Amino acid sequence: MIEAINVMKAFDDKVVLKDISAVFEKGQTNLIIGQSGSGKTVLLKSLVGLHNVTSGDILYDGRSLLGLNTKQKKLLRQEIGMLFQGSALFDSMTVEENVRFPLDMFTNMSDEEKRDRTNFCLDRVKLENANSKLPSEISGGMQKRVAIARAIALNPKYLFCDEPNSGLDPRTSIVIDELIHEITVEYDITTIVNTHDMNSVMGIGDKIIFIFEGEKYWEGNKDDIFHVQNKQLEDFIFASKMFRKIKEANK
Ligand SMILES: Nc1ncnc2c1ncn2[C@@H]1O[C@H](COP(=O)(O)OP(=O)(O)OP(=O)(O)O)[C@@H](O)[C@H]1O
Ligand SMILES: [Mg+2]
Repeated sequence: MIEAINVMKAFDDKVVLKDISAVFEKGQTNLIIGQSGSGKTVLLKSLVGLHNVTSGDILYDGRSLLGLNTKQKKLLRQEIGMLFQGSALFDSMTVEENVRFPLDMFTNMSDEEKRDRTNFCLDRVKLENANSKLPSEISGGMQKRVAIARAIALNPKYLFCDEPNSGLDPRTSIVIDELIHEITVEYDITTIVNTHDMNSVMGIGDKIIFIFEGEKYWEGNKDDIFHVQNKQLEDFIFASKMFRKIKEANK
């Protein structure tokens, strides 16, 4: 479980996150939704510790991120898997090398153990016969799978995904969403996903936090989101629906 407690983040005098408190549950896909520019990426980076919060705190199963020393932070990093906007693979490394990378960096595994773990993770995301390919030689959806395989290589307790569906067609997006959801449940991970994709919300929104201009406006789940009377949230849902309709009409 990850808790955000009164998180505030400002860049110089520009306040981007305003007093956000939220609980992200273990074994669930916790979604952060909101329109472009609302602060999702800044929030995710603050939760991971890539941004220092201006005030407030973040607890990882009760451990305060602010209270950790450098060594403890390094250990925590090893419990975290990340999937950034875009797949962010290393272009000059093969699929196998990309997935093995965190094992090389953080473990003392033998070559054989690393090979087994790498193959296990590639298998888990249903990528076979792609080990020696370069990222440029596989599709966008396959690249995301590689990124997921790499993110789970160290058996993370926490998984962060920033717009995992960006650039994917709707069907492939659903496959990636379901994969993230399955892995979350299977390994009991606290997963946090940034998205503005309403398909994701309806598909895997175990818990949803809606942010608007850096403030938390609503939280709930996929079953109650359509029954909420909240103007900003309704506008967001409506805009997403409109957007989908326009996209479909132009196909
Ligand atoms: N390093 C920074 N310095 C100053 N302002 C920043 C910085 N990073 C983000 N911002 C600002 O914070 C606000 C929120 O940005 P953020 O990237 O979190 O939005 P988002 O919800 O992730 O949008 P999108 O859906 O387009 O990815 C924006 O106004 C952005 O300009
Ligand atoms: Mg973003």
